[in-house]
Amino acid sequence: MTRLTINGQPHDIDAPDDTPLLWVLRDELGMTGTKYGCGVAACGACTVHIDGEAVRSCQVALADVWGSVTTIEGLAPHALQEAWVRHQVPQCGYCQSGQIMQAAALLAENPDPTDDDIDTAMAGNLCRCGTYSRIRAAIHDAATTLREGTQ
Ligand code: FES
Ligand code: FES
Repeated sequence: MTRLTINGQPHDIDAPDDTPLLWVLRDELGMTGTKYGCGVAACGACTVHIDGEAVRSCQVALADVWGSVTTIEGLAPHALQEAWVRHQVPQCGYCQSGQIMQAAALLAENPDPTDDDIDTAMAGNLCRCGTYSRIRAAIHDAATTLREGTQ
């Protein structure tokens, strides 16, 4: 049994130590907002935060989870979500929870990212629908909202 803190709540997980965190979230806990895309750290669909750091949950074994986990379900109301709606970012939506989790980690570190900063931070999050330009615009928009303290 492994105890994890996920979205502020304790969870006792009865699964093998090498179970990827992604499957713990989806299969053990029913938190299906975090998506499976590739399973090899190549797409970013499975991005969650561990102690605020954006990580690929398909690559973190249950026994190696080193801190408190936040998933898209537990991300506090954030300027990003409103910006995503304003810019109508998603198409199919499959990649978008990973995109938002990656973007939230970026803005926590860098409140005023340049286009290059955004492209670098988001480079590992693929979108087969090609929403990249709207993602970038929404991140700038959310960053402005946060800097102006209107949220
Ligand atoms: S499913 Fe984890 S990076 Fe693609
Ligand atoms: S919105 Fe479809 S994969 Fe990104």
